[in-house]
Amino acid sequence: MVLNKQRVESQDGQIAGQPITAYQLGKTDGAWQHGYGTKSDDRDTNSRNQPTRRLTKEASSIIIYFSRSGSTELVASKIAEQTNADLLEIVVKNPYSGNYQRTLSRANTEREREDFPELDMRVPDLSQYDTIYLGYPIWAMTLSHPMTAFLTANGSQLTHKKIAPFMSEGGYGQGDSVDRIKDILRVSGAQKNQFTAALVVDGNKVDRADKRIASWVTRVQQGYELK
Ligand SMILES: Cc1cc2nc3c(=O)[nH]c(=O)nc-3n(C[C@H](O)[C@H](O)[C@H](O)COP(=O)(O)O)c2cc1C
Repeated sequence: MVLNKQRVESQDGQIAGQPITAYQLGKTDGAWQHGYGTKSDDRDTNSRNQPTRRLTKEASSIIIYFSRSGSTELVASKIAEQTNADLLEIVVKNPYSGNYQRTLSRANTEREREDFPELDMRVPDLSQYDTIYLGYPIWAMTLSHPMTAFLTANGSQLTHKKIAPFMSEGGYGQGDSVDRIKDILRVSGAQKNQFTAALVVDGNKVDRADKRIASWVTRVQQGYELK
């Protein structure tokens, strides 16, 4: 019990002035098991926080992300430090369970039925941004469902944008997630998007990826590898 309490109260970073707890950090690959079994705070990172929302008039880029157990949120915080981008956390009405098995079974049902979660957030006008960083965990080798729901509802706002996808995952890579983003945007009527190469980070190693994250951000800013 005492160990649990310490873990819940530990802080692995900050985002927009609020603490981040990333439950996978510090686990060896053997103990981590590709993220299998990872718990969360039961509120998709927000049991102690307000959903992240930093919107300014000046920013030309925004980081839009979802994170269940904190790793993707920690990547988002590192990108924000380097870019001063605005921040918008994707929030669902009914958060995913802190229990991994329950989350897995809900996610499987949602995927089979293509019944993606209802969002609980106000989405601002995105016209001021030229670069959109999209962050998500990989679920079943594709986009996690809150990002699918967000893009389905708001994809039409992403026309003519530079899209920079980043993700944390269990060690099996990006799957078809970037193709899924492209498909959803096309169906939403978004046109003329340019995609940067994706950033893919193992969920238990996000705290050791600073250099890789920084060099990816520089490449995004300089527009290398756009497709
Ligand atoms: C429902 C579910 C399905 C997952 N499926 C995969 C998968 O197919 N491949 C993979 O590499 N990792 C998978 N993972 C592991 C997560 O991608 C990984 O733990 C990620 O770092 C979690 O990010 P977060 O802390 O931002 O939520 C899955 C996790 C969950 C909860």
